[in-house]
Amino acid sequence: MKKITIVGAGRVGESTAQILAKEELCRELVLLDIQDGVPQGVALDIQQSASLLRFDTKVHGATDAAAMAGSDLVIVTAGLPRKPGMSRSDVLDANLGVIDGIVDDVLTHAPDAMIMMVTNPVDVLTFRVWKRTGWPRQRVFGQSGALDTARMTAFIALETGYSAKDISGLVLGGHGDAMVPLARFTDIAGIPIEHFLDAEALERIAERTRQGGGEILALKKHSSAYDTPAAAIAAMVDAITHNRRRILPCVSILDGEYGLWNIAMGVPAVLDENGLSGIIELHLNTAERAEFEASATLVREDIERLP
Ligand code: 2OP
Repeated sequence: MKKITIVGAGRVGESTAQILAKEELCRELVLLDIQDGVPQGVALDIQQSASLLRFDTKVHGATDAAAMAGSDLVIVTAGLPRKPGMSRSDVLDANLGVIDGIVDDVLTHAPDAMIMMVTNPVDVLTFRVWKRTGWPRQRVFGQSGALDTARMTAFIALETGYSAKDISGLVLGGHGDAMVPLARFTDIAGIPIEHFLDAEALERIAERTRQGGGEILALKKHSSAYDTPAAAIAAMVDAITHNRRRILPCVSILDGEYGLWNIAMGVPAVLDENGLSGIIELHLNTAERAEFEASATLVREDIERLP
């Protein structure tokens, strides 16, 4: 990709920009924020590391949405983060207006872009963006499963002592307390996870994964997580930029897959240069299906709150 815009120069936006610049995942990177001085300062700080970190990416900061013109991808991180004790759904009302405004800017200035949603509650807001743009679902998707799966594999690495590099997992569903970590699709070096961990350990890890963002927020109190969220965004961008056809769980608009329509939630998706170019439909067993549907019900409740 030639140009990427990140809307929101907060912690997630800044960490994402750092990785995208360092990994040279585009030629030009724009950070947009409404607070004058902040995106410019963040961009300059990152740009000054170019010779040390050895990258050529040009990084700019701006407050004028026109700066996103010509972007191939717009990553939306702007909005109010939750505070300790809040669920992600609690920030829906506050973030809806922000996101609608950003969508209108993208429609005006970058009508050919793809949009990757990050702002919470990410499932319902991805759905909102898809509706408001009227674009094909290939070009509107959200980040959450890559993050949730990374958390799950990190906890497995900590519990077993084996390399995180050899661990592959899968977390589906909405990005909330009812997300669905799937032990049956988790392995270490191709060996099913049940070989290493008993049911009790797996349930403990699943629960810690569901609470992964909340655990960090409770520790830091004034900030949500941003390092792993940014790394998860970068993994998705890398798959798109390099046309890798990676299979990553992404917030996807469902059109009959998993028996669901008119909803956005996390399922395994194919990411390539066209964006979200396919959805993998798994045969879930009865227990997995029940968890997936319970998660869908919560996402649906938020969607029904949309004006
Ligand atoms: C997280 O899970 C903030 O939703 C984000 O850390």
